[in-house]
Amino acid sequence: MNGKIYLVGFGPGAEEHMSFRAKAAIVEADVVIGYSTYIKLVKDLLDGKEVVRKGMTEEIDRCIEAYEQAKLGKKVALISSGDIGVYGMAGPTYEVLLQAGWTPASEITVEVIPGSTALSACASLVGAPLTHDFGSISLSDLLTPWPVIARRLEAAAAADFVLALYNPKSGRRTQQIVEAQRIFLQYRAPETPVAIVKSAYRRRQDIQIVRLDAMSDCDIGMLTTVLIGNSSTYVQAGLMITPRGYANKYESLTGATKAGEEAGRSLSMGLMGWETCLRHYLAANAGINLDKAAEYFGMSLGAVLAAVAAGDDAGEYKVAQLADNALNAVLDASVNWGKLRGILRAEAGAVTELFLQAQDFKLRGDWLNIETEAFHLHVNWSKVATAYFVKREQRNYGVQFVDLRGRLLFRLSLMKTDGEFNPDELTSYHQTWNDLSLEQQHD
Ligand SMILES: C[S@@+](CC[C@H](N)C(=O)[O-])C[C@H]1O[C@@H](n2cnc3c(N)ncnc32)[C@H](O)[C@@H]1O
Repeated sequence: MNGKIYLVGFGPGAEEHMSFRAKAAIVEADVVIGYSTYIKLVKDLLDGKEVVRKGMTEEIDRCIEAYEQAKLGKKVALISSGDIGVYGMAGPTYEVLLQAGWTPASEITVEVIPGSTALSACASLVGAPLTHDFGSISLSDLLTPWPVIARRLEAAAAADFVLALYNPKSGRRTQQIVEAQRIFLQYRAPETPVAIVKSAYRRRQDIQIVRLDAMSDCDIGMLTTVLIGNSSTYVQAGLMITPRGYANKYESLTGATKAGEEAGRSLSMGLMGWETCLRHYLAANAGINLDKAAEYFGMSLGAVLAAVAAGDDAGEYKVAQLADNALNAVLDASVNWGKLRGILRAEAGAVTELFLQAQDFKLRGDWLNIETEAFHLHVNWSKVATAYFVKREQRNYGVQFVDLRGRLLFRLSLMKTDGEFNPDELTSYHQTWNDLSLEQQHD
């Protein structure tokens, strides 16, 4: 007889939240292997079975035991709470099997049986907090370095994901949740709703809905999942709700569509429409600069420049992308633009303005070096992915150099003398624009 390994996720704990397939697999198994707490949770299904209880730290032992028993021709259920593939035993088991030379074509078959993971079980108890984009991060640094966890927390917080925190705290790991709170408060309002759900669908179930700034003071343990809302999440009548986003399109869930929107079509701010919205925003808000517009739309400066270049309805802004391979040519041409203003922006917000002239530019290897008596500036030219001519008639004429992620590396602008641009320099700038810009297809 061929052995079989069932990798069973039995859901949050209560039997009624176990899937039919999970229950059938446990019933069918000759051997049930699991962490002792999990074995207790399915005790009513274990009559007449060989039961192997393992401790928390014996994960690999559980996998090896399952393989050894299956090699004897037995049906083995390796059980885990929630979904066995979510911070569970499915991964380590496959790793052990594959290292031992097992393949899906081998005699021993493996079936992964999904279950309701803690984040959906916990969400169901507090309302509907996961109705829009969400992520999950485990705060356990037993196997994952803290810098990796911190970077992911930053990214999730910055991207406005609703976030589920697994393994938020234990007797020994008490500061990780404090750090997570500190990182989130850099991006989210202190009053952002947070649900703290302990032992969902188990005997000691406990639910707290608090503000983000109170999160780390709450009663949180090994069996807790923390759900942090996004910037639209709210609490009403004791329920934590993250809107599905329909409010962007519909007057109410059953009502007529909003002006400019169509049922069954992407929002006007969807992939094909947001660039038009951005240009209209610039046209309607004269005086707003492109950095501010990028911040407002949550897009990179490069994406904003490309959006403005794609139409001619952005008010006073006109933008054209530089043709491929014209980066050095634009530097050469700038020799005829007179005195220039060079602008560098540090990510943290500092802006450096330097007064220079193109005669000082020296390209050496990967670097554009500009050395004067007053300063030495080194721009990593190999990082420039593209550049855009940008002008606001009579106010600003320049070129902006951006990297692959659309971040500004360097900005050059023509300067006025006695309150006026020099006509020859302007003519040369426009000539370069005509000679070196990509042709744009405007709709
Ligand atoms: C090693 S992970 C296992 C996750 C599990 N495989 C799942 O899909 O839910 C353990 C973490 O899951 C969360 N968890 C598991 N069961 C839970 C429950 N019944 N109530 C709340 N959180 C739970 C807690 O964050 C706990 O620290």
